[in-house]
Amino acid sequence: MDEFIKIAELSELREGKGIVRRLEDDSVAIVKLNDNISAFVNSCPHQHTPLVDGYGGQIAGEELTCPMHGWTYNLKTGKCVNQSGKLRLLETRVVDSTLYVRKPEPVTKW
Ligand code: FES
Repeated sequence: MDEFIKIAELSELREGKGIVRRLEDDSVAIVKLNDNISAFVNSCPHQHTPLVDGYGGQIAGEELTCPMHGWTYNLKTGKCVNQSGKLRLLETRVVDSTLYVRKPEPVTKW
């Protein structure tokens, strides 16, 4: 569990609704869908719009659509279904009633 960081209690999650937590310099979004919990860096790969909270991306079924230009992501795979981008999904672990995520790798900036 060394690389995993506590991010939320399961009781905070609501089906099909996202929450946002800070993890050092990153904003992390967490969405619960049935038995799946998706955690990802809360930034659209297109032009970095926050996907949960902020401008309010729309969650429908297993998909999340960015409000800015409509890129739509599968929340289980992270893949964009109508463009070529991909969410930065974070590995999750649940221990007792607490959700942990693996800290995101820093993005290389050129
Ligand atoms: S910023 Fe998300 S689709 Fe353009």
